Amino acid sequence: MAVNMTRKEIERALRERDDRSERLLRSLNNCDRRTFLKVSGYFAGMAATAGILQPHSFQLVNVAHAATDSKPLFRFAYVSDTHLFSRGMDHRFAEACLKAVADMNALDPQPDFVFFGGDLAQLGRPDELELGQQIIGEIKAPLKMIVGEHDWYLDLGEKWREMFGPDRYSFDHKGVHFVALNSVVEKDFWTANGYTPEERMNIVAGLDDSRQSPFEVGDEQRDWLASDLEKVDKKTPIIVFSHSPLYKYYKSWNFWTDDAEKVQELLFPFETVTVIHGHTHQLLTNRIRNISFHGLLSTAWPWPYAPSGLPELTLQMDRADPFNEFDACGDGRVDVLAGGQVDKTYNLWTRNPRTVKYADLEAGIKGGGPSY
Ligand SMILES: [Fe+2]
Ligand SMILES: [Fe+2]
Repeated sequence: MAVNMTRKEIERALRERDDRSERLLRSLNNCDRRTFLKVSGYFAGMAATAGILQPHSFQLVNVAHAATDSKPLFRFAYVSDTHLFSRGMDHRFAEACLKAVADMNALDPQPDFVFFGGDLAQLGRPDELELGQQIIGEIKAPLKMIVGEHDWYLDLGEKWREMFGPDRYSFDHKGVHFVALNSVVEKDFWTANGYTPEERMNIVAGLDDSRQSPFEVGDEQRDWLASDLEKVDKKTPIIVFSHSPLYKYYKSWNFWTDDAEKVQELLFPFETVTVIHGHTHQLLTNRIRNISFHGLLSTAWPWPYAPSGLPELTLQMDRADPFNEFDACGDGRVDVLAGGQVDKTYNLWTRNPRTVKYADLEAGIKGGGPSY
């Protein structure tokens, strides 16, 4: 069973992944290794001529932007919603997670840290969480974790906290104050109904199951947030990590945080605030007053857009190709600009990367960056 993989086995799987990717690219180009390298070199040469450095699509867009924009203050990268099953490496979601780890480790320069946006596991099982820890533990940069509902509702976070520490915390990095929240707190709907832990987990994992209660940050955590922010100067840029979006997008799917307005009230007094969230598995952008919101891609699958319609500033993606398991999946990167605002890059594995730039949001334009 691959759940108890050794470090060496994970490393071998990562190496095999790289070899397979190269073989796939070669077969797509219908050329041998020498020709493949020549074509890659040619492409790199073209990119260099255009002021773009790396023959890696993920890095191209960011560096291209850097040529016209001021240099970012710093960068971090992200992986989210891997939803690993206990079937271990036999499942394609594990393969996708390995792909994301390889992406992170190939970034040059390395990001200051990698943010994991929650839903590491599918059904909160210890073996799922352990498999996730083993795979993402291979990421070279430091990891910042938050919890998703799929990690939490089997044992109410006991195993997750044992493995990754507190589910809420804050830290300062290069002049930016970061806050990580557990935004998937639910009121107790299980005790009165006599649900087992497995039933509770399955209900929460369902997209359209009205037996659960809506996600919230909750009174106790909002009090903690208020006291955490009390000591922060209002001019200090704030970046919040949450799993659910900290606004109300679509309640039936829990694309929603029930006390979002109360959380936003705590953030409005600050000059520059960005919320980065997982859970929605899609390109998603919103802006409420001074707060910019960015959703993350999942490595496992894309959710469709909610039937209620999209936030106005979202660059809408085409429907994912149902015959390509990696379509509309991916990972990405966040460039933190000198003023603490962010440019957010979606590294779509089967499409051109897209960058939603702060300047576009500020101007009320749907971002998206150039296509290459
Ligand atoms: Fe998810
Ligand atoms: Fe989720």
